[in-house]
Amino acid sequence: MKVLHVAAEVYPLVKTGGLADVVAALPAALAKQGADVRLLLPGLPAVLDGVQHGHTLIDIGNCFGALRVRLLLARMPGTQLPVYVVDAPYLYRRDGGPYQDAQGEEWPDNLQRFALLGWMAAHLAGGDADLDWQPEVVHAHDWHAAMACAYIADHAGTAAASVFTIHNLAFQGLFPMHDWPLLGLASRLMSPAGLEFHGQLNFMKAGLKFADRVTTVSPSYAREIASPEFGFGLDGVVRAREADVSGILNGIDDAVWDPARDPAIAAAYDAQRLQGKRDCRRALQAELGLQPDDDALMLAVVSRLTGQKGLDLLVAALPELLAQGVQVAVQGTGEPALEAAFRIAHQANPGRVHVHIGYDEARAHRLIAGADVIAVPSRFEPCGLTQMYGLRYGTLPVVRRVGGLADTVSEGGAGGNDHSTGFVFDVATPAALAEAVRRALQLRRSDPAGWAARMRQAMAQPLGWAGPAAQYLALYAAARARRRGPPGN
Ligand code: ADP
Ligand code: GLC
Repeated sequence: MKVLHVAAEVYPLVKTGGLADVVAALPAALAKQGADVRLLLPGLPAVLDGVQHGHTLIDIGNCFGALRVRLLLARMPGTQLPVYVVDAPYLYRRDGGPYQDAQGEEWPDNLQRFALLGWMAAHLAGGDADLDWQPEVVHAHDWHAAMACAYIADHAGTAAASVFTIHNLAFQGLFPMHDWPLLGLASRLMSPAGLEFHGQLNFMKAGLKFADRVTTVSPSYAREIASPEFGFGLDGVVRAREADVSGILNGIDDAVWDPARDPAIAAAYDAQRLQGKRDCRRALQAELGLQPDDDALMLAVVSRLTGQKGLDLLVAALPELLAQGVQVAVQGTGEPALEAAFRIAHQANPGRVHVHIGYDEARAHRLIAGADVIAVPSRFEPCGLTQMYGLRYGTLPVVRRVGGLADTVSEGGAGGNDHSTGFVFDVATPAALAEAVRRALQLRRSDPAGWAARMRQAMAQPLGWAGPAAQYLALYAAARARRRGPPGN
């Protein structure tokens, strides 16, 4: 099966969130199971710098407002998977993030930047961009790649099936309808049955309407986005495709996130040898200037600091948590108000709260290895990866029962049936979060054996990519069968 993954970010080249982790690990897992997998990425500076053995496949010339566009074929560092790179200097070679400038403003030409990405995917699928390789399935990730599904649907001669994965429905790629002519698509798609969304152009909708199959990154989120509460205005479109929408839980890269072989952490450990985790905890307290207090419950956060992640609940619950004997270590970047609130908490509580406003992969490993619990109190969470890192590291997740958090962490079960792997709360209030943390504190203090059992249970949970990759392969086959239609057609 020849599969092309189309995305705007991939770890370790460009990463703003979990999407990049998935786009790195899933193709590699699919290749391990025999698929012939390639990637297609925009030629952002870090992508051009990071890929290996690149050469020009075709010189496309002028399109989407760029004077020079080339398609390169190169290899990903590490996995060595083939990667196509759209090199369009006018659109992609600039300082700043993949979607926004350094001040956090959306790039004003995002329509052209991401339409070009989808258009190129469709030409690879159509067989006229690379004469030596043609995907049977195009797998597009999030709104940045969603236009691939519209361009493929708009071209009758293309046999490839398209699969669209929603990683976060909150970001949809909305543009003024006046810009429609820039897309070069048939006008029949320019309606509410196509890309139009309340008078605007919606790239996410292109994926939802035109992909052969739509997935999200957890079964719970697949159900949730069919409701107005989680649908961000697209729940009706999701419901209309109910039979084609499913959830496949993300995995984690269990080579990168493995406490027994993690070069970033103070001491190696696993479920049988937990002494190393105690060493990691002490090392982290020392590194962060937190009191060397074995009794405290050490709570970590590694996250974007945004409304989605519910970290305002943690800020509000902080006085109560500190009074109970909790230590808090936060690492994140995001909304200025939340960054400021955490900075103030750090200054006001020396030795008990440490906040690092910044992004640092190795430090994230040390935090997750050293803490007792990791808090993910999200308002919505398509999947969430950090709670899974927590499970793998025996750092028990304290999560809200929503989306992928509900699908990966459990608490409760009577008597011998207790399969708890963390602490789960329902309502998005500071009190409910504080109560879940209090249960954690209580268990750790009063029942060390119960705590260790919960850690071992968490660490034993299968979280790798082998299972999800097999599910995607089955889904690709179903999408291909649908594209071919019933026998005789
Ligand atoms: P989302 O994609 O919504 O931000 P996920 O949990 O899926 O949430 O993925 C977040 C990813 O980004 C994880 O790999 C996490 O470790 C990483 N991450 C987030 N913030 C930071 C940070 N400040 N430093 C290091 N890694 C971070
Ligand atoms: C998005 C979601 C997150 C998910 C990630 C990878 O960023 O917010 O929940 O884990 O994509 O699929």
